[in-house]
Amino acid sequence: MKALVTGGAGFIGSHLTELLLEKGHEVIVLDNLRSGRMTNLPKHSDLTFVEADIRDAGAIRPHFEGVDWVFHLAALADVVPSIEKPREYFEVNVDGTFNVLECAKEAGVKRFLYTASSSCYGIPDTYPTPETAPIRPQYPYALTKFLGEELVLHWEQVYKIPSLSLRLFNVYGPRARTTGTYGAVFGVFLTQKLNNKPLTVVGDGTQTRDFTFVKDVARAFVMGAESSASGKVLNVGSGDHYSVNRIVELIDHESINIPKRPGEPDATFADVSEIEKVLGFKAETPFEEGVAKLLETIEDFRDAPLWEPESIKEATKTWFKYLS
Ligand SMILES: NC(=O)c1ccc[n+]([C@@H]2O[C@H](COP(=O)([O-])OP(=O)(O)OC[C@H]3O[C@@H](n4cnc5c(N)ncnc54)[C@H](O)[C@@H]3O)[C@@H](O)[C@H]2O)c1
Repeated sequence: MKALVTGGAGFIGSHLTELLLEKGHEVIVLDNLRSGRMTNLPKHSDLTFVEADIRDAGAIRPHFEGVDWVFHLAALADVVPSIEKPREYFEVNVDGTFNVLECAKEAGVKRFLYTASSSCYGIPDTYPTPETAPIRPQYPYALTKFLGEELVLHWEQVYKIPSLSLRLFNVYGPRARTTGTYGAVFGVFLTQKLNNKPLTVVGDGTQTRDFTFVKDVARAFVMGAESSASGKVLNVGSGDHYSVNRIVELIDHESINIPKRPGEPDATFADVSEIEKVLGFKAETPFEEGVAKLLETIEDFRDAPLWEPESIKEATKTWFKYLS
């Protein structure tokens, strides 16, 4: 198949690209390198890289010609910048998704896979959380990713583009995004360990997250493209959830506690029965094994920003201001 991966130079997109190439597919990566990096991508004769912005429909349109599968992962992530720059988040995550969908429609693609986020569940009432749980976005990132999902489902219904929306929970693994803003826990902790600074545990560290290893997530995308299921939303999770204190144990480094933040759930934990039923997908990487693989790549975090309690306090001011 000829696959186009938007955001393919990013963390998850680059693992998906690798898997597609391994399976013998031809891949076009379309990315503006905002947070993605060329060094994330392998050199391969079946891989073409296009530097383009999904906000520019004219620039991306020609690259959809002859494409069978579209995997749409390009987006702006992270909580705080989405509160500070909602317009930019809307333009990339919503308008950008509209552009990608229109190009996919015009090119008559066979499958469209959207990358949604479990952040749409906000602070859920039910664990494990099923796809039918109420939608409660707490900040613009969560809202814009959900609006993108709504567009995809609507285009599926009206224009009959065979599509699935995968709601990813917390994805971790090598090449985890660490650029600029204070964000995902693994990047923060590994950089702290490298610099021999204490790991900054938010709250008492008993909060849990459904950490899913990135290679399992890449496999879910490919299984989604290979299936004929359409118009469905599917959670992608590990089938379990793990506390922040457990991560500290596995990373094996001293830690300190910093204040708990508003708007964050005490747990994320996906109900994965639907994806198992529809795609036959089940995550396979045990948490301890995934963390060990990530730790093998700790040197990659040398250039990542080092966060300390004071700089975290400053970086999360907006979070406390708006989400309290
Ligand atoms: N990492 C997670 O735990 C997680 C959880 C839920 C959903 N997601 C979703 O997965 C997708 C990939 O996230 P990731 O963690 O790999 O982050 P990432 O930042 O590494 O990947 C996003 C990619 O999109 C590219 N991009 C951003 N704006 C663009 C634009 N305007 N035009 C073209 N390319 C653009 C970036 O350069 C980057 O390569 C995103 O859609 C994100 O919302 C991630």
